[in-house]
Amino acid sequence: MNILVTGGAGFIGSALCRYLVADPGNRVINLDKLTYAGNPASLRQIEALPNYRFVRGDICDEAAMADVLAAERIDRIMHLAAETHVDRSIDGPSTFIETNIVGTFRLLQAAMKYWRSLPATAAERFRFHHVSTDEVFGDLSLDDNSFREETPYAPSSPYSASKAASDHLVRAWHHTFGLPVVITNCSNNYGPFHFPEKLVPLIILNALEERPLPVYGNGTNIRDWLYVDDHARALDLVATNGVTGESYNIGGGSERSNLAVVQTICDILDQKQPQRSCRSYRDLVAFVDDRPGHDQRYAMDTSKIERELGWKPLESFETGLSQTIDWYLANSWWWRPIRERNYRGERLGRAVAGR
Ligand code: NAD
Ligand code: DAU
Repeated sequence: MNILVTGGAGFIGSALCRYLVADPGNRVINLDKLTYAGNPASLRQIEALPNYRFVRGDICDEAAMADVLAAERIDRIMHLAAETHVDRSIDGPSTFIETNIVGTFRLLQAAMKYWRSLPATAAERFRFHHVSTDEVFGDLSLDDNSFREETPYAPSSPYSASKAASDHLVRAWHHTFGLPVVITNCSNNYGPFHFPEKLVPLIILNALEERPLPVYGNGTNIRDWLYVDDHARALDLVATNGVTGESYNIGGGSERSNLAVVQTICDILDQKQPQRSCRSYRDLVAFVDDRPGHDQRYAMDTSKIERELGWKPLESFETGLSQTIDWYLANSWWWRPIRERNYRGERLGRAVAGR
């Protein structure tokens, strides 16, 4: 199986590449533009493997995508490349439109032409897996039911609107042109190699540096959390066994308010690496201006993937978070250069370290 992973130098893409190369029957071609969010260091442990190859490229370049598909005789595309940070989409939406919408369109065009050129058996095996988010469904209040696959789309940020648009394009290419696609929509991931502009790694690293822990608004917004390796396993399962043309929700069944997430990180760190002053890390919590248009709650009904494909998360939020914190404590070689770039003045999103 020759698998093209787009965005494989990012957080989830790198976890997926690490997962896929463990099967010697897979050849993984990781195509990534290496934006600020892409980091070759996340692939250090697999970069020398014979069944792994990195290609620097832009999904917006249809001709380059066509070349890679043909040269590597791709059987499956797992499309993760995207702009992903909601705060950045508020400050500057244009790259979100370019990459998430136009880029997905160009990749679909290249994929369709390639798929049509394949001999029958290879065409039958071919699949385009589009990786998306729970945010396309909009937000929920406390007593609403969780999102189901049939929930109408109601995205509210420039990021989620661009992801919703890309999901619609993928469905249209299936419906109109017959391209064999599957779509997954997943909730908030956390785990190792997570870029520290996102809540979990930002809070861990700010705490370790005894800097303020920014909580937007009053901290009551709720997200569902999934350990990234559980997501990688679900993606492989859907790409392999999912029904063509269908979408699958993926989630951790772990809804937490943002304040609860931050406090749990503080409590684990109080145990693992107490502050020099012996005060609790909770004292560093700082309530800051809310994110404009901040969605109140996301929650996923994952009964379809559980029932049809037998998937369930292996990590609870507590075990996954503890492992994640251990990883950040042991791997400053990975995150310190990113933090140092920030201290030299490079932006790290709205929630800048030390805000
Ligand atoms: P990330 O920001 O960590 O990584 C994105 C990767 O895409 C980076 O390596 C970047 O260099 C690459 N990229 C960006 N533009 C590109 C382009 N034009 N061409 C090629 N590569 C490009 O993202 P992530 O958090 O790993 O998310 C991966 C995918 O999963 C995204 O599609 C995202 O919408 C989706 N998703 C993420 C989460 C989450 O919690 N992080 C949850 C559900 C779905
Ligand atoms: O739900 C899936 C989505 O999860 C993915 O599609 C996105 O790509 C990914 O970035 C993530 O989006 P969120 O906006 O939920 O993640 P973020 O880590 O930015 O924020 C999580 C919550 O924490 C959100 O309610 C905003 C809040 N927050 C965030 C930061 C960075 C804070 O309170 N303080 C912060 O400093």
